Amino acid sequence: MSSSNRLIPPNPPVHGEAVSPGSSNGLIEPYSHYLEFRHVYKTFDRPILVDVSFHVDNGETVAIIGRSGVGKSVSLQTIMGFLKPDKGQVIVGYRDVTHYTESQWREVRKKVTMVFQSGALFDSLTIGENILFSLELREDYDESNKMDVVEGLLRMVDLDDAMDMYPADISTGYKRAVAIARALAAQPACILYDEPTTMVDPIMSNHLSNLMLRLKTQLKLTSVVVTHDLDLMNKVADRVVFLHGGGAIFNGPVKDLYKFDHPHVQEFLRLDQVSMDLAQAVSEETDTR
Ligand SMILES: Nc1ncnc2c1ncn2[C@@H]1O[C@H](COP(=O)(O)OP(=O)(O)OP(=O)(O)O)[C@@H](O)[C@H]1O
Ligand SMILES: [Mg+2]
Repeated sequence: MSSSNRLIPPNPPVHGEAVSPGSSNGLIEPYSHYLEFRHVYKTFDRPILVDVSFHVDNGETVAIIGRSGVGKSVSLQTIMGFLKPDKGQVIVGYRDVTHYTESQWREVRKKVTMVFQSGALFDSLTIGENILFSLELREDYDESNKMDVVEGLLRMVDLDDAMDMYPADISTGYKRAVAIARALAAQPACILYDEPTTMVDPIMSNHLSNLMLRLKTQLKLTSVVVTHDLDLMNKVADRVVFLHGGGAIFNGPVKDLYKFDHPHVQEFLRLDQVSMDLAQAVSEETDTR
């Protein structure tokens, strides 16, 4: 067995039910989805999420899309427990986490991890040391094969050669790949990506989306990906949640989004097509010079 295969995190069994700490009567309530927003509300200086409901099943990848400022990152931060909803229920790992304490959230965050846009790497540590840092946080961490595991993780993201480099030596896209490897060191069951392909060139964007697809098919990770990149959505997502004006105005299979007759959705898709046509025209013009 290769060391990368050894890193495959066990997928949690599908529990049909979990004890809900939020239920006042202490009865067992069924939560059939791995992640779920049930009528979630969040207001800052204006209402951001208004009665938002969606779910993500075990092993599924769901994309959250929508224009800037609609609450995509707020949704991810709510799944991680960094933000609390004003109203509604949040289910993570089949459990109602809405009223979890910080120490309960720390347990949740061992299973559910987030890859930040910046990569959030430690600049003074090498790439290998950055990954080792996450590995050492694990309780079942095995000192004897730690470097094999770090190498296996770097191989999984196609960065075998980067072990001794520093974050400053590698591009934004590779930093994100390292951040993904570091997230995998914790053997999560679920991974959240915030704009993983923003600000990288098309080749790196393709590389990262292939990597995400590999993690989905090989590791069966449950994932949520917030993105403006419809190519990425088409490649990795099973379903899509379209946020607009505070609500989830579409929640369904990706192919149905294109048939969804809503002016904002159609405008969003049309603008993406215009920008792709422009990029194509620029590249053809460059080729003929
Ligand atoms: N902690 C916070 N305190 C106050 N306002 C916040 C906070 N977090 C987010 N907001 C506001 O909530 C709104 C939604 O933010 P969010 O970051 O979710 O947008 P987004 O959909 O991810 O947009 P983008 O595509 O630009 O990343 C913004 O107006 C933002 O300023
Ligand atoms: Mg955002």
